Amino acid sequence: MDKFVIRGGNPLLGTVRISGAKNAALPAMAAALLTEEPVILENIPQVRDIETERKLLSAMGAEVELGYGRAQHRTTICCRDLVNPEASYELVKTMRASTLVLGPLVARMKSARVSLPGGCAIGARPIDLHIKGLEKLGAKITQEHGYIQASAERLKGARIVFEKITVTGTEDLLMAATLAEGETVLENCAREPEVVDLAVLLNKMGAQVEGAGTQTIRVHGVEKLHGARHRIIPDLIEAGTFIIAGALTGGDLTVTSCDPIHLDALLTKLEDCGVTVHRNGESVRIVGNGPLKCADIITEEYPGFPTDMQAQYMALATQANGTSIITENIFENRFMHALELVRMGANVRIEGSRAVVRGRTALSGAAVQASDLRASASLVIAALVADGETIIDRVYHIDRGYEHIEEKLKGVGAQIRRIGELLPRRMTAPAVAS
Ligand code: UD1
Repeated sequence: MDKFVIRGGNPLLGTVRISGAKNAALPAMAAALLTEEPVILENIPQVRDIETERKLLSAMGAEVELGYGRAQHRTTICCRDLVNPEASYELVKTMRASTLVLGPLVARMKSARVSLPGGCAIGARPIDLHIKGLEKLGAKITQEHGYIQASAERLKGARIVFEKITVTGTEDLLMAATLAEGETVLENCAREPEVVDLAVLLNKMGAQVEGAGTQTIRVHGVEKLHGARHRIIPDLIEAGTFIIAGALTGGDLTVTSCDPIHLDALLTKLEDCGVTVHRNGESVRIVGNGPLKCADIITEEYPGFPTDMQAQYMALATQANGTSIITENIFENRFMHALELVRMGANVRIEGSRAVVRGRTALSGAAVQASDLRASASLVIAALVADGETIIDRVYHIDRGYEHIEEKLKGVGAQIRRIGELLPRRMTAPAVAS
């Protein structure tokens, strides 16, 4: 299994380019199931979750071309001859977002068999709201042998109020509703930029979706969708991770090809911490000048502070003067990184859904283990300011969602190397869900 070896102490200086958003690319690839014509997606990140989605679609009989080049990362997906509308446990257990195929498959293929994802490192993460919503749209759903079997001759528009805001739940039902008969109104929707990006793609495919980015989305169902070409939005979590790393190391880092508006909750918080932030069109420059001040965060749905940035922010809070309270509102078990940070010298106490971080404590390099995707990013960031060498085990988690993170970090001055690459890099991961 690969490990990262990181020697701390270097400020990050220079420019880093952000890749396409994994969490926008995954639903966009699933949306290709809604049409028999090719869907071309550009700015696809070169990460392991995309490879998993390619396998998932290919197993159903889709033709998926996936190419990464200097100028373009692109996939062309053609779902004309689908033979097997199924998401197997083998794939769902490695990536929960595989369940995004449920809505599109029932809508176009009239049936779907999708494995239930089971537990996850950061919380229970059920998909009951996807299921209830599909039932409201008229699907017949049964559960057997760990699989959901859904079927419908044609889905029928309905009013669905999400009991809880769910990102992939909103995306799944939004896709299903595009081919339903009549109008669907989705209320209490997730407003994440990834949901908006999906709606833009669906409209390019001939769907009639209004209101994405607000709490209420209206979908006027159509008979058929067609092919389209679409460029995926930049990854706001990758951008935020580099921004925190720049601030923490006292660097001068410009993060390009990102959308500063999507990053507003994080950037405003960093300003509270005393970091200088310049927002310029499609880039953000961070100048870490002087000591960091403590500031509390509460994770919320977009446009609040993202749960996917909580672990990285905790690494920063260990180096801020004073006590920062971090409240995790979205997932019930998302503090696995805290104990690893403590091994590096951080002072963090967990009290239910709150973490109390007392700073500033010197961090020292240690052997630590990544437990999930964003927790791994937190450890990488902490290692950049730790004294001596940190060895991070299980970096397959980070390969799920960060494109060539070690190369990007090296490019702006970090001392980081990957070891233990005995097998081709993206083939080494064991099955884990998060
Ligand atoms: C997505 C993101 C993930 C991010 C999360 C929250 C993708 C591929 N993943 O995950 O990176 O951390 O949003 O921003 O986009 N819930 C239910 N029942 C459901 C669905 C969700 O109770 O049917 C709960 C979850 O357990 C969680 C909360 O709702 O407590 C939010 O989860 P959700 O927004 O669905 O997360 P994901 O879409 O899985």
